[in-house]
Amino acid sequence: MNNEIIIPKHVGIIMDGNGRWAQERGLARTVGHKTAIATLKELCIYMADLGVKYASLYAFSTENFKRDSKEVDFIMNLFIKVFNKEFDFIKEKKIKVLFSGRREPLPSNVLKAMDKIVEETKNNTELVLNICLNYGSHAEIVDTTKKLCNMYKNGEIKIEDINDEFIQKNLYHDLPPLDFVIRTSGEMRLSNFMMFQASYAEFYFPKVYFPDFTKEEFDKAIEIFNNRDRRFGGIK
Ligand code: FPP
Repeated sequence: MNNEIIIPKHVGIIMDGNGRWAQERGLARTVGHKTAIATLKELCIYMADLGVKYASLYAFSTENFKRDSKEVDFIMNLFIKVFNKEFDFIKEKKIKVLFSGRREPLPSNVLKAMDKIVEETKNNTELVLNICLNYGSHAEIVDTTKKLCNMYKNGEIKIEDINDEFIQKNLYHDLPPLDFVIRTSGEMRLSNFMMFQASYAEFYFPKVYFPDFTKEEFDKAIEIFNNRDRRFGGIK
């Protein structure tokens, strides 16, 4: 990729299609989730090298708890394993990990692994990896509204203090707006992912399932992003 290419500052990835990837190969859905980890690792290293500053990953939605409990248990154990062991490259690439989402009802061993990786990477200065786990945009807006109401009740803020910027700062994390949202597997939905942050994002829906979303696929995505005409509501 040459230097004239614009690299989006904040990329959101809805990692969809792990189950279908496996099922189409006659494999258990869990194999798809496992394979997704290798894809994700390659992608994070690539994004860090390209100079993406923030990447938000939709790892598990508040709604994903409705899945078969065996699959949910498998995914939770996979998270523990990944956050504890397989993320060595995170330290090497100076990636800072954050989590967005509700802690309830995540199992305590998952929370422990999450807290550990956040603590260990808190001083890192390169790519910020915002992992949306037990995340939902509606839940985030509800939680932020409650936080602001409490601040008001305690006399910490006035009604006039509330504006776009103030709301952004009081979401789960104060992140810049999403520039680019990629959802793999061809589904064209936001599915409760970072609705406030995605208000002016460009969207891209590649047909490949997430386990096949390689560096080459990311290059294609960046090319598509570069061909978009972003006007943010204005006229050129
Ligand atoms: C999406 O595919 C996958 C999930 C909702 C589960 C968990 C995500 C991962 C294992 C990716 C790794 C994430 C981190 C941060 C370690 P799907 O099961 O919805 O696929 P389908 O639509 O084909 O059923």
